Amino acid sequence: MELIQEISRPPLVYMNGVPLIKYFAEAIAPLQNFQALPDDVLISTYPKSGTTWVSEILDMIYHDDDLEKCQRAPIYVRVPFLEFQCPGLPSGVLRLKDTPAPRLLKTHLPLALLPQSLLDQKVKVVYVARNAKDVTVSYYNFHQMAKVHPDPGTWNSFLEEFMDGKVSYGSWYQHVQEWWELSHTHPILYLFYEDMKENPKREIRKILQFVGRSVPEETVDLIAQHTSFKEMKKNPLANYSTVLSDFMDHTISPFMRKGIAGDWKSTFTVAQNERFDTHYADKMAGCDLPFRWQI
Ligand code: A3P
Repeated sequence: MELIQEISRPPLVYMNGVPLIKYFAEAIAPLQNFQALPDDVLISTYPKSGTTWVSEILDMIYHDDDLEKCQRAPIYVRVPFLEFQCPGLPSGVLRLKDTPAPRLLKTHLPLALLPQSLLDQKVKVVYVARNAKDVTVSYYNFHQMAKVHPDPGTWNSFLEEFMDGKVSYGSWYQHVQEWWELSHTHPILYLFYEDMKENPKREIRKILQFVGRSVPEETVDLIAQHTSFKEMKKNPLANYSTVLSDFMDHTISPFMRKGIAGDWKSTFTVAQNERFDTHYADKMAGCDLPFRWQI
């Protein structure tokens, strides 16, 4: 219990100008020695953009579309989280030691903190981006339930912190743009959460092609069915209910919360939305990323 109290809500720590959850910040220096393998696939996202969803899709693809094999462990074991570190829990790097190749890895790191070996080895990346308003609302709810984050305060103050890039992993605007830029020179499949919601099978086919797999159409149907929000919400190996409630309290807000595009409308006030739009136009000026606020 004492350990848990120590873990609870430490202030963010800055690494190379990027604010991070304290324990993750402590993992960054040793992580720079991480040796990527050329057949690794990295799932990269800003938090709350569909990481778990695309992880489940890729794990299924990598395990012969066999549902039983996907039941072998929780998603955070099947797809190790590179920078994860927290007192009393195995780190992402430790979990990787038991992960056979070809490996799936997860990160939320901006490029300034990414281990160089991933770039040197030209590791394939599946990047998922989600519209900033839905990310903010999802992140706010996640802060309330996941206690490694600082207390998010009121919705209005959290929104301001998000816009200023003063939340864990820093600026959403920079994250989506720098990974987009990198996709012009590095093998990155850049996906959008809204597209996945609109037509999951189309996006699953893109992922299959990117990782060089070919499966019959009924297998695409099976993957889409198994990774639907409805299925993942009730799957204890995908919905994070196996994590101790001291770390993630699903009674405050479930990890699998709503799983829709456009939910921000139920949280943003008209004034907050106007202010956000003005700030957004400035931050994203000159960027050709086609985000959609709803589908
Ligand atoms: P909401 O909080 O808006 O519901 P991440 O995995 O990157 O942390 O993202 C979590 C967000 O993705 C949550 O959003 C969660 O509900 C949503 N999500 C997870 N699995 C999903 C799925 N299969 N379909 C749609 N949304 C999903």
